[in-house]
Amino acid sequence: MTRRWGVGAPRVEAGGGRMIKTSLPSIDVILPFAYQRHSFFICFSFLFLMKLTIIGSGYVGLTTGACFAKVGHHVMCVDSNPKKIETLLAGQIPIYEPGLEEIVKQTVASGRLKFTTNTEEGVDFADIVFIAVPTPPNPDGSVDLRYIEKVARDIAAVIKSYKVIVDKSTVPVRTGQKVAETIRRYAPTIDFDVVSNPEFLREGSAVADLLDPDRIVIGANSPRAVALMQELYAPFVAPVLVTDINSAELIKHAANSFLALKISYINHLSAICDAAGADVEKVAEGMGMDKRIGRAFLNAGLGYGGSCFPKDLAAFTTISDQLGVPFNLLKEVHNINVAQLERFVKGIRDSLWVLQEKKLAVWGLSFKPHTDDVRSSVAVELIRLLVAEGAQVVATDPKGMDSFRVFEPDLAMKITLVDDPLEAVDGAEALIVATEWPEFSEVSLAEVKKRLIAPLVFDGRNLLDPATMKEMGFTYHCIGRNQIMHS
Ligand code: UGA
Repeated sequence: MTRRWGVGAPRVEAGGGRMIKTSLPSIDVILPFAYQRHSFFICFSFLFLMKLTIIGSGYVGLTTGACFAKVGHHVMCVDSNPKKIETLLAGQIPIYEPGLEEIVKQTVASGRLKFTTNTEEGVDFADIVFIAVPTPPNPDGSVDLRYIEKVARDIAAVIKSYKVIVDKSTVPVRTGQKVAETIRRYAPTIDFDVVSNPEFLREGSAVADLLDPDRIVIGANSPRAVALMQELYAPFVAPVLVTDINSAELIKHAANSFLALKISYINHLSAICDAAGADVEKVAEGMGMDKRIGRAFLNAGLGYGGSCFPKDLAAFTTISDQLGVPFNLLKEVHNINVAQLERFVKGIRDSLWVLQEKKLAVWGLSFKPHTDDVRSSVAVELIRLLVAEGAQVVATDPKGMDSFRVFEPDLAMKITLVDDPLEAVDGAEALIVATEWPEFSEVSLAEVKKRLIAPLVFDGRNLLDPATMKEMGFTYHCIGRNQIMHS
């Protein structure tokens, strides 16, 4: 049973700066015999039924749409790519996200999740229209908002009655104002409200994050829009924070940047631990036991990657510069992230001297476990650096190999990809762990040792146990725990 999914949400609302805490009766009181909370929502979905449209059926749009349909709403997902819509209508999903395919299949079968390429059909369908289109980075780190602007114009071209237009994409502060201005320019006679409702999904656990969120942020300047959004989120149990639009937009960038800051903090600390002969995991544990700090996001490794942190940090840094309040702290967060990977590669070079023509096994391509996403993956950057030095890389990943071939075709041509982690280490000079997939920790270390030319392991994610590695006779390098090997 999920932790808090059901009615009974402790709701926190900020009204004029005042926090109001109210509480609905708990689902455990209302329906003690409910075994699965979600079946309650499906049985009684008419109580919550709302119609919503999501424009953009990418990672965020599709997961959001499927989860809203799962809790009982009727959802229309719009995407301009007919091939993608065909795939979705056939019950297949174009990304790997645990649990999502099942929900898409269920909700399509129940008739609550529909897909179309037609924006007018989508906008006519619902009173609430989400925008969930990509906001890619420009070369200077700022955000390319052309897709948001296009959707605003598309909505304006077909809007006939009052709608709440909700921005779900991660955008710079004040984008909501621009969206409202754009719609007003092209549809001056129609009433509408704009809302910012940032997403806080992590790839690999997006379904759980959506169904059981830490908080729901509603940035709106109109009570009518707030009321509709609260009704929409009624099936979810989470604190709801109501703010103005600008603050909601800032919350997203501020939260991601702060998490990246935590990672860079522990990564720099890992270098200090190596230099001083301390164990970064113990230091993180001791810090994390302070409730004000918390243990989460203090895992030292090769640095943060993915499609969110690097992009959002660059965007927030640029926005702060533009606002005349440079956020130099974030520039250092980025510098530490770059230095962490360089330090790791230096360690490999220090051991193997010259990498030219040396066969190196790399476990991991995705930017973190439980996803096939290789965008801005540190594992991929690491491989790029090794290949640039002439190493012969043999890599493997449980889910990321297909997307690696698609997103990095040139690099994929220069390395060998194999399915089996043991095949990767066959005759290699060293094993490098780049992504902490649990599958990798289950591989027989005795067999790894047998197959490597020499028992040399560089663990960039602290996946393996230093004491075991020492006992088995490996020369083992990890992140901020190297004193354990030398004690
Ligand atoms: C991140 C945020 O965690 C989400 O809340 C947010 O909604 C999302 O970005 C987004 O903006 O859409 P995500 O990028 O999926 O989610 O992945 P995370 O789990 O946050 O990990 C990001 C990177 O940090 C990964 O490369 C991971 O390996 C690294 N990381 C994370 C560490 O190196 N150490 C840690 O302790 C935690």
